[in-house]
Amino acid sequence: MKPLVHAVVGCGRVAPNHVDGFSVLPDAELRWACDRDLARAESLARRYGLPRATADLRDVLADPEVDSVSIAVDHAQHFELAAAALEAGKHVLVEKPLALTVEEGTALTALAQRTGRVLSVVSQHRYDPVVTAVRDWIAGGLLGQLVSGTVSLQCGRDDAYYADSYWRGTFAGEGGSALVNQGYHALDVTRWLVGGLTVTGAAAGHTAPRGGMETEDTLAALLRGPQGALVTYHVTVASSITWRTRVELVGTEGSVLFDLDHPGTLHLAEGGEALRAAAREVGAQVEPAPAGIGYYGISHRRQIADFAAAVRDGRRMTADGEAGLDTLRLLREMYGAARPGGPTAPGERTAVPAAANAVPALGG
Ligand SMILES: NC(=O)c1ccc[n+]([C@@H]2O[C@H](COP(=O)([O-])OP(=O)(O)OC[C@H]3O[C@@H](n4cnc5c(N)ncnc54)[C@H](O)[C@@H]3O)[C@@H](O)[C@H]2O)c1
Repeated sequence: MKPLVHAVVGCGRVAPNHVDGFSVLPDAELRWACDRDLARAESLARRYGLPRATADLRDVLADPEVDSVSIAVDHAQHFELAAAALEAGKHVLVEKPLALTVEEGTALTALAQRTGRVLSVVSQHRYDPVVTAVRDWIAGGLLGQLVSGTVSLQCGRDDAYYADSYWRGTFAGEGGSALVNQGYHALDVTRWLVGGLTVTGAAAGHTAPRGGMETEDTLAALLRGPQGALVTYHVTVASSITWRTRVELVGTEGSVLFDLDHPGTLHLAEGGEALRAAAREVGAQVEPAPAGIGYYGISHRRQIADFAAAVRDGRRMTADGEAGLDTLRLLREMYGAARPGGPTAPGERTAVPAAANAVPALGG
């Protein structure tokens, strides 16, 4: 069988997770490292033994043996680069978010449909053992009817993280910050578990902005699940703690508490005996962490295996383009609801002075 030939486009912080995920597949070949900064592409290629490096995506797309590409660049270029790859007949694994805007995201899912290629948006935490287990328990009725959720991420990003980046902390390059970037996974996982979310209210803050960032550093929202469950969601990048998530879901028959930082650990599972018995099984499924930054988790490997299987046999993925589009729609709606209390939209600068704490604004 011909190996799946893959290229990584964008050789920054998250690229090693993509290299790792494809390199542990038995039937894949990593061929190209591509970065518009050639030194970065060459450095990644050298470090992980990829045979070819280029600064020009066209070299990758012109290689007829390349089946698929990872797009791991700034948010603003996801659309253009993913669209070019799909048009060239390649399958695409794009880092989150799918695109900067809902319009771009919709165009990408339509393009994947038209070209018959797999489009997947990285949502690795959907593949965490604890998350997949909780999803099964909800589907099996072990939590009863969901009534309440509390979801948060507190993380700390320093001045250099924004000041040294060409795109982070800017509306044009990142499209927001705390929510669309760091807070993406907690939102995406919650939406997937609860079965959809609508926005009841939101506020964004520019509370203690680092490194000249123009985007929100903190955002809070009140969301509603399909059966009426009320979910509070908080994210900040201005904590003294590097990374800590928390997801607590309360149902009429059972409650669970876990995080996205310990993918096999449940902090609480209280309810009937069936739930407690299922909870005892979760810890056994966790494999050692791969290369990359620790809090990115263990599950890029799992999503990449799902992606490769979808490319081979056309099966539907857990984290496909439509899923990414739904989460993009939700988070853009949250930004819209947070207006005008804080910085919320591409091209829009906050009127909130850096020193002022979040101005509350409800909407939506
Ligand atoms: N899933 C996760 O947990 C996770 C973690 C980190 C980052 N990400 C996502 O990954 C993406 C990249 O983030 P990062 O932290 O690696 O960024 P980064 O700034 O570290 O790296 C981006 C790289 O892309 C390169 N680049 C820019 N334009 C290019 C082009 N046109 N062609 C080729 N290369 C180009 C840059 O030179 C840079 O090396 C973002 O979407 C981010 O949200 C996801």
